[in-house]
Amino acid sequence: MAHFEALTLFFITFGVDFMPRHRRSKRGWMWNQFFLLEEYTGTDMQYVGKLHSDGDRGDGSVRYVLTGEGAGSLFKIDEKSGDIHATKRLDREEKAYYILHAKAVNRQTNIALEGESEFIIKIHDINDNEPRFTKNPYYARVPEMSEIGASVIQVTATDADDATYGNSAKVVYSILEGQPYFSVDAETGLIKTALPGMDREVKEQYQVVIQAKDMAGQMGGLSGTTTVSITLSDVNDNPPRFTKALYEFRVRESLELGGTVGVLRAMDADIGENAEMEYRVIGSDGPGMFEIVTNKSNQEGVIRLRKPLDFERKRQYSLRVQVENSLVSSRFLAAGPFTDEASVKVIVEDVDEPPVFDRGNYVLEVKEDARRNTVIGSVSAADPDDKRSPVRYSIDRRTDMDRIFDVHAGNGSLFTLKELDREENAWHNITVIATEYNTPDLVSRVPVYIRILDVNDNAPTFAANYETIVCENAKANQKIQMISATDPDEPSDGHHFFFSLAQEAAGKANFSVRDNKDNTAWILTRRNSYHSLQKSVYHVPVVISDGDFPRQSSTCTLTVRVCTCDRDGNMKLCNAEALTARAGLSTGALVAILLCVIILLSPQGFLCEKKWQKCGNKI
Ligand SMILES: *[C@@H]1O[C@H](CO)[C@@H](O)[C@H](O)[C@H]1NC(C)=O
Ligand SMILES: *[C@@H]1O[C@H](CO)[C@@H](O)[C@H](O)[C@H]1NC(C)=O
Ligand SMILES: *[C@@H]1O[C@H](CO)[C@@H](O)[C@H](O)[C@H]1NC(C)=O
Repeated sequence: MAHFEALTLFFITFGVDFMPRHRRSKRGWMWNQFFLLEEYTGTDMQYVGKLHSDGDRGDGSVRYVLTGEGAGSLFKIDEKSGDIHATKRLDREEKAYYILHAKAVNRQTNIALEGESEFIIKIHDINDNEPRFTKNPYYARVPEMSEIGASVIQVTATDADDATYGNSAKVVYSILEGQPYFSVDAETGLIKTALPGMDREVKEQYQVVIQAKDMAGQMGGLSGTTTVSITLSDVNDNPPRFTKALYEFRVRESLELGGTVGVLRAMDADIGENAEMEYRVIGSDGPGMFEIVTNKSNQEGVIRLRKPLDFERKRQYSLRVQVENSLVSSRFLAAGPFTDEASVKVIVEDVDEPPVFDRGNYVLEVKEDARRNTVIGSVSAADPDDKRSPVRYSIDRRTDMDRIFDVHAGNGSLFTLKELDREENAWHNITVIATEYNTPDLVSRVPVYIRILDVNDNAPTFAANYETIVCENAKANQKIQMISATDPDEPSDGHHFFFSLAQEAAGKANFSVRDNKDNTAWILTRRNSYHSLQKSVYHVPVVISDGDFPRQSSTCTLTVRVCTCDRDGNMKLCNAEALTARAGLSTGALVAILLCVIILLSPQGFLCEKKWQKCGNKI
């Protein structure tokens, strides 16, 4: 409560030699003590003090006037006696002092007896405010397994009372709830752990109640409380543990590569990154067959297939697997290895599989002169589940639209249905299908590449349209045209062409053929001077034959026009129709059409076929 005796008074000077508690002055103002207790609860108005002037002789001629903060409302003055009263309760924490002005005037004349003076009414503190915490509740975290005395959080309470005076604002902290786990520093409000080895996996949350009490914690002080919600944060103090010593998974042998064989889940009492783990295979009787991939989102180990399974080869696998925490704190290494191991048994289940061809593809060869129904080779497939179970073969007709081939449904022999021509199609790439007799929806396919082998079935012909003239003034044995030949067949050691003058022209020949033995030949003049008036066009039949078996030959006819030339052999004039055609055209336009006779000879040498066809590439 109040502490009157300790009050210090304010001094107001306006020429008054004023001493506290003494009514003594040469002249001027005199008054009582000017202090006021806050939160006054009395029924009558609280007396503040008295204004008095030396000039006041008590005859009622002096009037005291009060102005300033709260004058007339909070503070009332008796204008005759100078007594000041407070009309209401005052709160120091709201306003600690008031500045007022006092005057004494002659009631009749209104002339001031004293100059106006300023004075202060100071409100004196009582302990009417309890300490208040800056937060309620507080939230704090501290790692589990912390040593004793680990700092958790500092709490602070403030007290609105006057901290410069007495103990009304002197706060002391204590813990009301939360022992023996936590303690609080009485002076600073720092909360610390008070028990070693607090385990998050046992209890994670603590509600601690802290009290702050003023009056330095003495009896009669006011107090406030706050709650501190303390969470133990996780540290990695628990290793992962497999839930079983032996896991068993069943998978079909048809499981695709990368497919899931099974899922392992190890438990870890920790949370977050302290519960993150890695799985691995540390032993297997099928090396490289399986791998474990850790699913980072749910910490599961997914066993995946890396190599194909085959029930017919191996029906069971045994693996040894390990799990380990990704993050291991060195502080807890002594608590044991942060790993665990388990066994995994993978049982392979049989699947009815389609037939399997004994090769990934087949390359077969057949000569282009093969007759219909010639067997060109065979394919073979078997049911991997039962080698004796029968298989049926067929050709995928989309790959053999012209039905050139067929396959024997029972034994896989491929044979021709039509005649072949290598010069038309050198390859026939088809697909053969194998079907299980008993389960026709189990189907396999295999590519079969059929190469058509060459047979010498084409006769050589001129390689080009040769543009040939002879000058009227030509000399015998002049070269007038080089010729070469072409043949669509492909003999293994290359072409060998032979050129000669056809038999029927040999007797009265006007030109000769000289075989250069390099697949070319020269056409030569055979006499001096040709006369266009006598004969303007000559037809020279040339026999070209190849060196292959069976030998093929043809007779191609070269047309030679007779032209007039200058002394140097430059052409000047051919015949009338050539002249008109020559205007603006190359000499090529002057060359006559070459016709040739193809004579196909059988190995025995007799004439088996004879037809007219155009010789050369362009007409
Ligand atoms: C398959 O059967 C056909 C017709 O009986 C026969 O011509 C062929 O040689 C046989 N193929 C094999 C590989 O036995
Ligand atoms: C057929 O297969 C052979 C060998 O793979 C290839 O050289 C050829 O170009 C193929 N022919 C066609 C028409 O696909
Ligand atoms: C050779 O030329 C003469 C005339 O110049 C002609 O009568 C004869 O028929 C020609 N020979 C041939 C094979 O064309």
